[in-house]
Amino acid sequence: MFAPIFIVITICYFSYNRQCAIVFLSKWGELEMETLYMDNAATSYPKPESVYAAVDHFNRYLGASPGRGSHQQTVQAGSILLNAREALARLFNISDGTRIAFTLNVTEALNTGLKGFLNPGDHVITTSMEHNAVARPLMVMSRMGVEWTAVPAASDGSLELEQIKNAIQDNTRLICMSHASNLTGSIMPIAEVGKIARERGIFFMVDSAQTAGVLNLDVEKQNIDMLAFTGHKGLLGPQGTGGLYVRPGLEIRPLKEGGTGSMSEFLEQPEFMPDHLESGTPNTPGIAGLLAGVEFIQKTGREKIQKHEQELIAMLLEGMKQINGVLLHGPADSTQRTAVLAFNIKGMDCGDLSMRLDFEYGITTRSGLHCAPMAHQTLGTLEMGACRLSPGFFNTEADIHRVVEAVYKIARRV
Ligand code: ALA
Repeated sequence: MFAPIFIVITICYFSYNRQCAIVFLSKWGELEMETLYMDNAATSYPKPESVYAAVDHFNRYLGASPGRGSHQQTVQAGSILLNAREALARLFNISDGTRIAFTLNVTEALNTGLKGFLNPGDHVITTSMEHNAVARPLMVMSRMGVEWTAVPAASDGSLELEQIKNAIQDNTRLICMSHASNLTGSIMPIAEVGKIARERGIFFMVDSAQTAGVLNLDVEKQNIDMLAFTGHKGLLGPQGTGGLYVRPGLEIRPLKEGGTGSMSEFLEQPEFMPDHLESGTPNTPGIAGLLAGVEFIQKTGREKIQKHEQELIAMLLEGMKQINGVLLHGPADSTQRTAVLAFNIKGMDCGDLSMRLDFEYGITTRSGLHCAPMAHQTLGTLEMGACRLSPGFFNTEADIHRVVEAVYKIARRV
């Protein structure tokens, strides 16, 4: 059976086009195997059943704009936002849930924090492991007079605290960094950096895209002034959800102005949170799903989720280490990373590797530069990119065996 299939794929690939081969392979894949999703660092999948149910329930039975008017449906929609803020506040040890503004995703939250806070002449410190969600806004802002230092991480993505300390200048106003790299999973010492920032009178913003819902985040203990999060990864909610926490007393400019359902007699944007940073009808069905995701985490226990993901990544790392020809990126110690493993197979393009895992083995990975060119430069993989495996809470040990076996078979054939 394999020989004719291989011939068809080869003919499609070389004589017609790549898309044709992909379509053929996907049809074959549908018939042959069950998909194994290993791309939770991009979006977690599947979601808890309660998340699907909450989104459906909102769309089917409520459907109203929250905070607009006073009819019962709008009040119920409003209470979903309130409950979601409170659930998130409990998870992150935030004393006042109204200090959380919902956004479309973590990118919007980070843009709001950076652009709403920094002024020309201010200096901001990041690491060299940041995602483009931080790097691109700062690139634009650096042309407008904001000074930016990206302190270099080590080639495994880890960070020396001294590097942060040495980068501090008289005009340093903000340190902004990810809690963990989306490429290597390297867990950054945010509690220590938060302490340094507080001692030096510098504000501290954390990009928790890869960690919220899995690792411990405590805005008080970690001295976090702004916490940007996304709803669709570790928080197990739908895409199109996220938010920014802004510490009480810290005023930032909104990214956009518009209707808030409050103070409608004024043309000025309300000054109070969360309305100050939230304009237009929010993604209430998505936030209903996000609330269900956070409730699932609280019911399950965040520590249990972290432990399970930690066990899976330890097993994956161990298995992959045994395969000849595999180049692993990121910290060698699995406890120093989230459930993310970027790798290459020597002599093979990472896109082809990802495609083979997908179409030949039904394993879903992300390949390329992962929207993090600075991180790739740090690792020395800017030219070749990498293939990334990221198991999630719903994966099992058997899934990890299946991945290791597939990579072994592919590496053997190079
Ligand atoms: N930033 C997401 C990722 O790392 C989408 O894949």
